[in-house]
Amino acid sequence: MSNPKVFVSRIIPEQGLEMIGEVAEIEVWQDELPPPYDVLLDQVRSLDGLVCLLTDRIDEELLQTAGNRLKVISQMAVGFDNIDVATATKLGIPVGNTPGVLTDTTADFAFTLLMSAARRVVEGERFVKAGRWKTWGPTLLMGHDIHGATLGLIGFGRIGRAMAKRAAGFDMRILCYDPFIDEDAARELGAESCPFEAVLAEADFLTLHVSLTADTHNLIGKREFEMMKRTCVLINSSRGPVVDPKALYNALSNSDIAYAALDVTEPEPISTDDPLLTLDNCLIVPHIASSSVATRTKMATMTAANLAAGLRGERLPNCVNPEVYE
Ligand code: DGY
Repeated sequence: MSNPKVFVSRIIPEQGLEMIGEVAEIEVWQDELPPPYDVLLDQVRSLDGLVCLLTDRIDEELLQTAGNRLKVISQMAVGFDNIDVATATKLGIPVGNTPGVLTDTTADFAFTLLMSAARRVVEGERFVKAGRWKTWGPTLLMGHDIHGATLGLIGFGRIGRAMAKRAAGFDMRILCYDPFIDEDAARELGAESCPFEAVLAEADFLTLHVSLTADTHNLIGKREFEMMKRTCVLINSSRGPVVDPKALYNALSNSDIAYAALDVTEPEPISTDDPLLTLDNCLIVPHIASSSVATRTKMATMTAANLAAGLRGERLPNCVNPEVYE
C-alpha cells in the first residue's frame, strides 16, 4: 500500500519534518511566504493529511474540496482562528493544535515587551546608535517601575496564568478578568479576579491573553481606551484583531494611553504605510512570541504526532474538535 500523502504548508523545524517523512509521502511548500489559497485548494483534493499554519485560510470551501480522503488537519500553533473548525467537525475531520508547549515561551516574551516598554529599551538603543549619548544624564530616558505597578490581565488561561507567575516575582499587583475564570488558580497566583472595566481602569500594564473569537474581536476599542489610565501600557501577544487598530492609533496619538507593545497586528504583516508605524510610542515585532528554538521544535514535533495519529485513524493527542470522535 502506498504511503499517505501529506502537504506541509511551509518549512517547519527539521525534527517535525523528519517525523512526518517517516509516516507519509510529503510535499513541503518551500517559499518564505505561505502558499496562495488556490495552491492549497488544488493540493487538498489529493491529500490524506494537511499540516498548516495560522497563515493558511482553511475555510468551508477548502474543506468541502478536500472530500472524504482528508483524514486530519494538523496545525503548528495553539490558536486556530484561521480554521473553520465547525465545518471540519461536520465533515468528521479532526483538527490538531499545539497547546501547552508554548505557554512559558509566550509569557516570557509578553513580559519582555512589558519590560522593554516600561524601561524604554528600544528608545535607548536608537538613542545610542544615533550618536546622541553624550554623558550620564540625571533625567535621561526615565521610564516607569515594574515592581509595585498594577498588571491587568485580560484572559486567565494558560498564558495569562504564566504572566501572573512572572508578575508575582516582580512584586506587581495583579488584576485579572476572564469570563471563565478559575477563581482558585487566581487566588493561588495572588491575582485578584475583577470585572473587565475595573481591570481596564486600574492597570498600569494591560496585557491580552484571549483567543480570537466573535466575542473578542475588537474587544479593545475606543470605549475601552477611554477607560484606561493615560499612563497605561498595552501589550498584545494574542491576536491582532482583538484590538481595534484605528482606535489604538487614536489612543496613542492623542496620549489617551502611553504606549503599546505589539507582537500581533491586524492585518499581518502590518502594511509598511500603516500609521501605527509612524508612532514613537508603539513597539511592533513580527508575531514571534513563541519563537524560541526549543519551543518551535516542540511545536513541530507535536504537530507531527497529531498528524501521524490522524493518518492511522487514531485519536489526536491534541485535538481541538474532539466531538468528531462521538
Ligand atoms: C499560536 O500558536 O497560536 C501563536 O500565535 C504562534 O505560536
